[in-house]
Amino acid sequence: MKAQGWFITGTDTGVGKTFIAAGLAMALRQLGHSVGVLKPIETGCPVDGWPDDGRRLAEAAGAPCDIDAVVPCRYQEPLAPSVAAGRCGRPVDLQSIDAAWDALRGACEIAIVEGCGGLMVPIAPGTTVGHLAVRFGLPILIVVRAGLGTLNHTGLTAHYARSLGLTVAGIVINQADPQTTDIAEQTNPGELERAFGLNVLGSVPVLRPEQASAADVVARYLNMNLLLG
Ligand SMILES: Nc1ncnc2c1ncn2[C@@H]1O[C@H](COP(=O)(O)OP(=O)(O)O)[C@@H](O)[C@H]1O
Ligand SMILES: [Mg+2]
Repeated sequence: MKAQGWFITGTDTGVGKTFIAAGLAMALRQLGHSVGVLKPIETGCPVDGWPDDGRRLAEAAGAPCDIDAVVPCRYQEPLAPSVAAGRCGRPVDLQSIDAAWDALRGACEIAIVEGCGGLMVPIAPGTTVGHLAVRFGLPILIVVRAGLGTLNHTGLTAHYARSLGLTVAGIVINQADPQTTDIAEQTNPGELERAFGLNVLGSVPVLRPEQASAADVVARYLNMNLLLG
């Protein structure tokens, strides 16, 4: 079986990639799909045990997973991978990432892969997170902020993705205020579509932990028909 899926990127770190990726994974499982998760590189990892993003993704996937299968490349310092790798003298191991990806896509119907930081974050000389999405052959989802500044950040990310030949499957606006009176926030969804030809899948509000179930995140706020085709 060759999995379909998405590479989840964002306009920045802390924008909600893991939150949305985990929500998507849980929702797709509820719809009856077998879902696999991968965080090819994570920085800011503890010396032992699971790093945060890998753990949240593995929990969302629901199946028992091996840490090396979910997060094959881990660094302690919370820095861009190329910098963390340079400082500890251990380059990003693309072979272990390829091996984890090959195992994952053979074992599930839908693969959800989370990048790190944004798409142009360097992971090795001449190689960025965007090149990982190309390597996996996955369309990307871009998680973005709701307010002023997001047109520029999203437009730049989509432009870079397209320059690499990637397909932008959709945009998820995260931590939006449904009652906003902010004009930028009100007009951003329409302008992202008009100015850059992007599919906005929906706007996800800030959810309290007890509300942040997959049903809330995905079924209520994102247009799954647009995503699943
Ligand atoms: N819509 C949301 N509602 C509530 N908390 C959120 C939401 N989106 C993100 N968060 C929280 O914000 C923080 C950063 O999100 P995260 O998914 O880790 O970002 P990223 O993966 O892009 O670095 C996390 O604590 C996450 O749980
Ligand atoms: Mg994350």
